[in-house]
Amino acid sequence: MEIIILPSAQEACIYAARAVAGLITRKPTAVLGLATGSTPLPFYHELVRQHREEGLDLGQVTTFNLDEYVGLAPEHPASYHHFMRENFFSKVNIPASQTNVPDGLGTDIPATCQAYEADIAGAGGIDVQILGIGGDGHIGFNEPSSSLASRTRIKTLTQRTREDNAPFFSNPQEVPHHVITMGVGTIMETRHVILLAFGEKKAQAVAESVEGPITAMVPASVLQLHRQATILLDEGSASKLKRAEYYRWVFENKPAWQRV
Ligand code: PGA
Repeated sequence: MEIIILPSAQEACIYAARAVAGLITRKPTAVLGLATGSTPLPFYHELVRQHREEGLDLGQVTTFNLDEYVGLAPEHPASYHHFMRENFFSKVNIPASQTNVPDGLGTDIPATCQAYEADIAGAGGIDVQILGIGGDGHIGFNEPSSSLASRTRIKTLTQRTREDNAPFFSNPQEVPHHVITMGVGTIMETRHVILLAFGEKKAQAVAESVEGPITAMVPASVLQLHRQATILLDEGSASKLKRAEYYRWVFENKPAWQRV
């Protein structure tokens, strides 16, 4: 794992956006795995800025989102379809036909999930996956106890996650219980993971994921087995790491060719 601690969420998101923009420049047909939530917003802002001001061309990029609520129409303001349209897709030049978000309204959910996996494979797999982390260590909507080999499927949210996400709904009762999420196994097959975590409320989950044992009770801990996982933190989310000084030293002394 590469653990990078930067002074602020803004700087960490700009770093992540530069890494992704660099990939798109090298490989214009890159396949991106995308995340929603409050964490990655500055990441999207920076990619949009690069598109508008620096000519970053996303015309051949394909995207797959991690998850969606079951039962929410794409027009619902709290749906992840809506989030992606508002914050990213409507502001860059990725053709709509190349963007993929799980269909929360599908009547045959297992078939929807299987088709999503097939579409990812058909696109050649995901080159870089953006992840957030839940306060309970979830990635995507893979809550604690999720199989570390799981594929895209329906999951039931914990009460804590429903409460965390309630501010995005006009009524907390409206937060769906069920979601479709890429599995932990799906995420593990991506070629590069960039996990973004900011603020002290994520510090415990980050410490357990990076320095604790690998366990399904902290799904993000499986990233210790990922071939290329970059963990981008701010001071708050890094505050419970025992080896923080070592991670800082590694980052400061990286050879130039390893830098973004
Ligand atoms: P957040 O969610 O970015 O809104 O904190 C992260 C997550 O639950 O994965």
